[in-house]
Amino acid sequence: MESLHDPEAKRALRRQLRRKRSILSRHEQRQAALNLCQQLKRLPEVQRARRISLYLPVNGEIDPTPLLPWFQKRNVDVYLPVLRPLSANSLWFVAYHAHTPMVKNRFGILEPDTRFAAHRRNRLPAWALDTLIVPLVGFDAQANRMGMGGGFYDRSLAFIRRGGPAPALIGVAHACQQVDTLPVEPWDVPLTAVASDRAVVRADKKKSRP
Ligand SMILES: Nc1ncnc2c1ncn2[C@@H]1O[C@H](COP(=O)(O)OP(=O)(O)O)[C@@H](O)[C@H]1O
Ligand SMILES: [Mg+2]
Repeated sequence: MESLHDPEAKRALRRQLRRKRSILSRHEQRQAALNLCQQLKRLPEVQRARRISLYLPVNGEIDPTPLLPWFQKRNVDVYLPVLRPLSANSLWFVAYHAHTPMVKNRFGILEPDTRFAAHRRNRLPAWALDTLIVPLVGFDAQANRMGMGGGFYDRSLAFIRRGGPAPALIGVAHACQQVDTLPVEPWDVPLTAVASDRAVVRADKKKSRP
């Protein structure tokens, strides 16, 4: 049997899972987003967060932004990931409001425009957040994550593998992105849980936190 770790097998699985979510209709996407937000509101890691990161969906990713008014009402500070200019392929997080000026990054994804000095002051490294809502391409019943293949979240969260205090990491996805088992690489940072439009799966505590 070919190994799940084989780069070609991983690429094929990513392609297959991305296709699945890209064919969802606008109506299915909307319904999934609303159902996801109901699941997220019940999670203690989301309820207790004072600083939380979301993302703006691309390529059929499930949309976590219906949560924005709920966070606003609760005075929770919401952040979006931004590509770090001088640090290869890693992220920091910039405060996001209705009037935040946005700009497309090199992947065509909108992010807060950090050319404005005011926004530079509002940016944080991942360790300063309570909870991160993390997009993913695939997940399994142990809350293992397969991303887009760039390792951006793994790099930005590598400090977690050294132990010590860490933000909660909540992966989010369409239920159709679940597979039986994913290959886990040494650099993959374990999630706390994955929430989909149908259910929440939690990582085994002993494995997820050293
Ligand atoms: N902490 C890290 N430091 C350096 N490179 C990393 C780190 N984490 C991941 N990478 C690199 O990023 C690449 C993509 O990682 P992978 O886990 O396959 O992608 P994704 O998490 O997006 O699915 C890998 O080739 C890996 O070597
Ligand atoms: Mg990874």
